[in-house]
Amino acid sequence: MAADSGAFKRTTITAALPYTNGPIHIGHLAGVYVPADIYARFLRLQKKEVLFVCGSDEHGVAIPMKAKKEGISPRELIDKYHAIIKKSFEDFGIAFDNYSRTSAEIHHQTASDFFSSLYRQGDFIEEVSEQLYDPEAQQFLADRFVVGTCPKCGHESAYGDQCEQCGSSLNATDLINPRSVISGATPVLKKTKHWFLPLDRYESFLKGWILEGHKDDWKPNVYGQCKSWIDDGLKPRAVTRDLDWGIPVPLKGAEGKVLYVWFDAPIGYISSTKEWAAREGQAWEPWWQDPETRLLHFIGKDNIVFHCIIFPAMLKAHGTYVLPDNVPANEFLNLEGQKLSTSRNWAVWLHEYLEEFPGMQDVLRYTLTANAPETKDNDFTWKDFQARNNNELVAIFGNFVNRVSVLTGKYFDSCLPQPAALSPRDEETLEQLRAFPERIADCLERFRFREGSQELMNLARLGNKYLADEEPWKVIKQDPQRVGTILFIGQQIAAALAVLSEPFLPFTSSKLQEMLRMDTLASPCNWEQVSRAEYLLPAGHCLGEAQLLFRKVEDSEIQAQLDKLEATKKQNDMENTSLPAQKETIQYDDFGKMDIRVGTILQAEKMPKANKLIVMKVDTGIDTRTIISGIAEHFTPEELVGKQVSVLVNLAPRPLRGVESQGMILLAEDASGKLVFVSPEQAVGNGAVVR
Ligand code: 2FM
Ligand code: ZN
Repeated sequence: MAADSGAFKRTTITAALPYTNGPIHIGHLAGVYVPADIYARFLRLQKKEVLFVCGSDEHGVAIPMKAKKEGISPRELIDKYHAIIKKSFEDFGIAFDNYSRTSAEIHHQTASDFFSSLYRQGDFIEEVSEQLYDPEAQQFLADRFVVGTCPKCGHESAYGDQCEQCGSSLNATDLINPRSVISGATPVLKKTKHWFLPLDRYESFLKGWILEGHKDDWKPNVYGQCKSWIDDGLKPRAVTRDLDWGIPVPLKGAEGKVLYVWFDAPIGYISSTKEWAAREGQAWEPWWQDPETRLLHFIGKDNIVFHCIIFPAMLKAHGTYVLPDNVPANEFLNLEGQKLSTSRNWAVWLHEYLEEFPGMQDVLRYTLTANAPETKDNDFTWKDFQARNNNELVAIFGNFVNRVSVLTGKYFDSCLPQPAALSPRDEETLEQLRAFPERIADCLERFRFREGSQELMNLARLGNKYLADEEPWKVIKQDPQRVGTILFIGQQIAAALAVLSEPFLPFTSSKLQEMLRMDTLASPCNWEQVSRAEYLLPAGHCLGEAQLLFRKVEDSEIQAQLDKLEATKKQNDMENTSLPAQKETIQYDDFGKMDIRVGTILQAEKMPKANKLIVMKVDTGIDTRTIISGIAEHFTPEELVGKQVSVLVNLAPRPLRGVESQGMILLAEDASGKLVFVSPEQAVGNGAVVR
């Protein structure tokens, strides 16, 4: 399916630049960063020339919007999340060659130059059009600043650039009943000038390049989305915005306008490469401009159109760049059956995971890979996380390595014995072992990471089965030399696991290599060597101290995570319980008719045969009267006596279950239904007027 990476001289791997409006969660990891990292590590292990770049996406409407919500400046916001994201990637072992940010000077320059080149070449259309404008906030509304009803599916909260329900890409002016996210106002149309990339000019190029050229090697989900875009007919796309946050449009007469975030962000891959090259004293151009370079974009499915249609059209227009050879986009990951969401805090945050499960990076990497949303949306559950750890990493991988290392320690003082003549079973096992590098490589070359991770586990299964069948612990009594051979072969399997697990489980691989003292070997083991008919560890090679590769995850740890999600759910439910809408406007005279006084509850008792009602005697300063209130489910009569409250005293009396209620006590009710009295802040004489 995939073009052979061997047909190229070098590979440039990009991973989608994450927005700095929140931390990284498992959805980002499963969709983009874990597969990209596995692929980069895999190529490096094969001694291929590879560059793996990423960085923070710090522009776009989402940034000032989130900053406003957090009560900080956009600059403070991007600095905060850039630092959290960068550190969590490092701690998680995502081995970028460079992690940059789009606020960097080098990026502003690169994006600006890119725009200017296209402008000079006449690649843009300049157009004055009517755009949505918020008359209250005095600001143009684009992208996430405006919501309304999706013209395609009727979803009522579609954004100005995209409907999250049906995935359609929209223009803000397409929305039905648009409203400003800033002020809630209904926008008006106002004229403004923008620059458009005429995608229609690239239609025949895109048809040839994607629909004919990549029919067989791009994933069906990626190819399918591209085809439907192209078949729908491509329209010019604005690449500038009226906004005060972003890269200024480098043209006279474009003051107050910035580059559209989706114009500048993918250029961030190029700027990140330039930053790397400057630091390493290398040239950046071959990684982007040499036809012998293979460009790969790892992204989530919501980014397909930008990486397969718009960015390639930009690169093609520029004229000096290579185009992506493949864009292995993944589908989405859900969490416990619900869509992951940064704003609703429905996520497993990477920086929190790293704190709560220290030293267990590989467990999350493995779970996300074994259950990767490669061909359809998938669900992450904490139970599955526990099962993948306890039943696979601990019970298969860890168990095999532990058994072979304990037995070698016990019988041979941790030094590999000289093998005797091999049995047909030994030969067969070694032959099977030597097939694994190619089998795993084949999965990875085709971007089938789930299958690759299962093949790796099959290698550990091979080791377990070999030990279980050969039973060295029984054979030791009558044939210690045979046991030497069995453990020698067992250790070859452990060494193969150490090498082949590196892309998937880099922390485990490095622990295992240390345990096997592979750094002391004459030549370090690599991927290809595992398939050769020579041993990875020679006889006489002495092993280091055994280490625990994996530990069991207890039920209580899983329960703690589920409790955390339950608390989030409750919080969200509370916030979503909508408050009643404001009632219609009244005049001051209407308000002035209400006589509200401070009173003290003198007596209180539950009304017989009524679950909710409490009958009270209240001193209103004017008199002592009976008031009945439906608060028995919230307060006991005892806690009411002596309380100062606000009483509407001139409400017409009304009978309740045969008793006349002569007024009303004021209460505040929040969205969750909790009731509190509206009481004076300090004690005040009964009868005091509330106004
Ligand atoms: O969807 C996102 O999170 C974007 N920030 C991805 C940008 S990818 C690239 F083009 F930079
Ligand atoms: Zn829609």
